[in-house]
Amino acid sequence: MAETLFLGRTLSFHRRPEGAEDVGAFDYHETGAVHVKDGRILATGDAAELRRAAPKAKVVDHRPHLICAGFIDTHLHFPQVQVLASWGKDLLDWLNTYTFVEEQRFADMAHCEAMATGFYDGLLNNGTTTGVAYGSVHASSAEAMFAEAERRGMCMIGGKVMMDCHAPEALCDTAQTGYDDSLALIARWHGKGRLAYAITPRFALTSSPAQLEAAGALCAAHPECYMQTHVSENVDEIARAKALYPDAPDYVGIYERYGLLGERALLGHAIHLEPREIEVLAETGAKPVFCPTSNLFLGSGLYDDAGLRARGIHGGIATDIGGGTSYSMLQTLNEGYKVLQLRGQQMHPYQAFDWITRGNAEALGLAREIGTLEAGSAADMVVLDARATPEMALRADRIGTLAEELFLLMIMGDDRAVVQTYVAGAGQKGA
Ligand code: GUN
Ligand code: ZN
Repeated sequence: MAETLFLGRTLSFHRRPEGAEDVGAFDYHETGAVHVKDGRILATGDAAELRRAAPKAKVVDHRPHLICAGFIDTHLHFPQVQVLASWGKDLLDWLNTYTFVEEQRFADMAHCEAMATGFYDGLLNNGTTTGVAYGSVHASSAEAMFAEAERRGMCMIGGKVMMDCHAPEALCDTAQTGYDDSLALIARWHGKGRLAYAITPRFALTSSPAQLEAAGALCAAHPECYMQTHVSENVDEIARAKALYPDAPDYVGIYERYGLLGERALLGHAIHLEPREIEVLAETGAKPVFCPTSNLFLGSGLYDDAGLRARGIHGGIATDIGGGTSYSMLQTLNEGYKVLQLRGQQMHPYQAFDWITRGNAEALGLAREIGTLEAGSAADMVVLDARATPEMALRADRIGTLAEELFLLMIMGDDRAVVQTYVAGAGQKGA
């Protein structure tokens, strides 16, 4: 089969960098190459050596650009591609006014299919090769989401939302239909190609106790699946969750009681956690997911990354489209950097680029498959140009180190800095 050598400056992390001095956390080759065969990375290293080892390989020359593992977005909403940038007061107002209205349109399969094209084009244009996505309540939304990902050969995780109360009638399933539809989707899509299913109770406010119990039963029957939900995003939301589940010790305790937490559980936002909730995350291995552009846009609050890491909790980072305001994981880092600044925490660019690649893969338990340029990984890659705009080029004239270049990319970069995105070795931009 065809072998390809992608030439460029290669950057791949093998553990989380401790800080600015920790250059041992990654492999960087100034004159590097990635050797790809049948959609997998055979080797990443010095270009001259790899050329000698593979003299017949086709050469794709991306010099002088940077080649990284494709970005991973660990929390976003497929049916919110037309909700993005909707003006609103706060989370609950925004959900009721825009989101719950827009998501009703996903009952129509033709609409789902049309939106799926835009959704994946948006991800790939921005260098994101894997996403963990919520559908709408309709099974059709998950069908369209998986079918289009399969067509593009992407590693995607997702599920239909389960929600059976405190939302418009047209957006509600029942404990039974939510269970049945999720089960059918698991059978149809989990493990097919590069796809995985996430059991997706939206959050405690829109799931009855019977539905959370059904979601827990699905998790118990299908431990191979992920579970995703929202927690502790907004103070009014927390108060309502506690009022709806008065016997639970706290918000996280609601999900804990119904057996939803474990290594494969992803908890969107997790901003205002109480000490006991943090202990539960540490004990169960459930992963919080930081959604900075959304948290700023909805005024939800400031995620405590250092506090969670100090307790051994390494969460994900994500766009949360459409509460989030950009498809770009670079822009997500930009806003994330500022959120953490307001917390008195500094995200070094090494840590930032590790987070959106290997770190997110690790949070998903997929670090052998995606998130690095190591031999054996899927050839999901992004090619970045820190001189993509005149303003970036002007700034780039005054940088001299890799760390400075990465920081420029994450502060000023967006889809324009993405020269090419590869899914299993196949170029996606301008294809
Ligand atoms: N909580 C429950 N549903 C949602 C959603 O769609 N977006 C955000 N940001 N939070 C939620
Ligand atoms: Zn969300």
